[in-house]
Amino acid sequence: MQDQINQYTAEIEAFNPANADELEAFRIKYLGTKGIIKDLFEQFKSVSAEEKRVLGKVLNQFKQSAEAKYQELKEQFESGAQQSTADIDLTLPGTGLEVGSRHPLSLVQSEIVDIFKRLGFVVAEGPEIEDDWHNFSALNFPDEHPARDMQDTFFIKKNNGKDDIALRTHTSSVQVRMMENGKPPFRAIMPGRVYRNEAISARAHCFFHQIEGLYVDENVSFADLKQTLYHFVQELYGEGTKVRFRPSYFPFTEPSAEMDISCTICKGAGCNMCKYSGWVEILGCGMVDPNVLENCGIDSKKYTGFAFGMGVERIANLKYVIRDLRLFSENDVRFLKQFKTEMI
Ligand code: PHE
Repeated sequence: MQDQINQYTAEIEAFNPANADELEAFRIKYLGTKGIIKDLFEQFKSVSAEEKRVLGKVLNQFKQSAEAKYQELKEQFESGAQQSTADIDLTLPGTGLEVGSRHPLSLVQSEIVDIFKRLGFVVAEGPEIEDDWHNFSALNFPDEHPARDMQDTFFIKKNNGKDDIALRTHTSSVQVRMMENGKPPFRAIMPGRVYRNEAISARAHCFFHQIEGLYVDENVSFADLKQTLYHFVQELYGEGTKVRFRPSYFPFTEPSAEMDISCTICKGAGCNMCKYSGWVEILGCGMVDPNVLENCGIDSKKYTGFAFGMGVERIANLKYVIRDLRLFSENDVRFLKQFKTEMI
């Protein structure tokens, strides 16, 4: 039995598996339930008591060294260290680094921001959790005014029994903060996330992104508003894109308008994107209501201004022809990867 153990020990020491299968065969042969070590322990039961004293130690050492060898090789295979260079095909192309891509909304947002920056607008930001004053009252939404219902608001907290703190429904709240804390002239855009309590569908979501703009100075007129937005559209959608203004209503602007552009998909011929009208609405705008200026401590006799606001998702839909708003927030990489070429 001693000879047998010596022979196995030599075998184990010399063992150098080429792959994990060979290592597994080794484990089964020596350490398995029907393996050599088990068998040796069986034989051990029937040797004389005198032999047992010597052999017991030898046998235990043998078992330990077989286990240690197996563990060592197993760890090597798991860490990949056992792979010899002979197995590597150096002519194979390497695995490319997965480079992320920018989200389509952030691509569109930075494009819009860039256009206005070139016109001298600065970027302003404000909190997403707002109070009634900044989101509504300062913007000329009187208490109980039906216009408040136009924006299905997520209220968070009441003050003195009245709904007060809410998730902002538009970034016009940032305009109020800016005017309250500074002196005219103001020329700024306000990108940011806004929230409305709407059922989620292909066409509506409970949050989306807006870019609003504000220009307040002496002698700002509706002509300035039209020319600024006309220039913006030519930059964003290309020369020759037509614009038209339709009268509208917002509590914080007077007069108010909605601006349409000639459909970017069919160029005005009619398609299902523009519901066969040739026009698509992209933003709301108007001259800042004097009440709003006064609410923010600005002399409305001296200063006038214009404001506008657009949804970034809407602009991105028209640019990339994305028909389901939910795609923007589902983080499906198959969708997001398609914008790789536009990496900045
Ligand atoms: N705040 C308006 C909205 O969310 C958009 C808007 C901004 C309209 C500025 C006119 C002027 O719908």
